[in-house]
Amino acid sequence: MSTVMITGANRGLGLEFARQYAADGWHVIATCRRPDDAAELNDLKNCEVQALDVTDFAAVTALAKQLSGTKIDVLINNAGVYGPKGDSLNSINFDAWPDVMKTNVMAPLHLSESFAPHVAASDFKCIATLSSKMGSMTDNSSGGSYIYRSSKAALNAVMKSLSHDLDELAINVIILHPGWVRTDMGGPNGLIDAPESVSGLRQVIANASPKNSGGFFNYDGTPIDW
Ligand SMILES: NC(=O)c1ccc[n+]([C@@H]2O[C@H](COP(=O)([O-])OP(=O)(O)OC[C@H]3O[C@@H](n4cnc5c(N)ncnc54)[C@H](OP(=O)(O)O)[C@@H]3O)[C@@H](O)[C@H]2O)c1
Repeated sequence: MSTVMITGANRGLGLEFARQYAADGWHVIATCRRPDDAAELNDLKNCEVQALDVTDFAAVTALAKQLSGTKIDVLINNAGVYGPKGDSLNSINFDAWPDVMKTNVMAPLHLSESFAPHVAASDFKCIATLSSKMGSMTDNSSGGSYIYRSSKAALNAVMKSLSHDLDELAINVIILHPGWVRTDMGGPNGLIDAPESVSGLRQVIANASPKNSGGFFNYDGTPIDW
């Protein structure tokens, strides 16, 4: 049985990842901040729910220790925040910026380094991270969203470096754009629902290899320019 570990698995894309992998017979290690409030997650079969705030680095280290000896085929860094809405020029909430960077950039890196031994011990050996096209310079034709865009651009840089550094452990690191998805973050005007996004993303993950490690991919598998 293959094992996937997912952060922020109580709602949105994270919950859908947990649902789909569990339905396919994977063992799911689903992490979220408040397991007691995660009824849908707790109801899934093949799913072990662990409390984890990804910005609590000591807790991440402790969970990695608790799970030492567990092989994790796919680690999905999914948890993320948008930050304050409407951060347009002259009304930017600079005070909120560091927390977004901690959640979206530093936490996925700390998670990845902490669980690299678990992933390296598995058969499939993949770390997949939910970024966003909003972190792409090429795609930025509308400006604004300074905080979120910069966090996802930095996340891309971090994951690209990680792909090189984890070469020696034969871990493939892929960076994902889920599309504009109707979740709490994506809002009701998104273009697709979570099941469509996640089934595409799972296919992209299944195709991870040393050849495409360090790449940035749309949910339909198309490479995205940085
Ligand atoms: N939806 C889109 O259109 C879209 C587009 C591009 C990229 N993405 C990316 O895809 C990922 C998932 O997005 P989504 O649409 O599913 O967002 P969402 O519905 O807002 O869900 C975000 C998830 O992240 C969790 N989270 C936030 N901070 C956390 C922390 N410190 N520790 C643990 N969990 C934390 C939330 O947990 P709580 O319930 O505890 O807050 C929640 O489970 C994010 O990285 C997002 O940036 C989404």
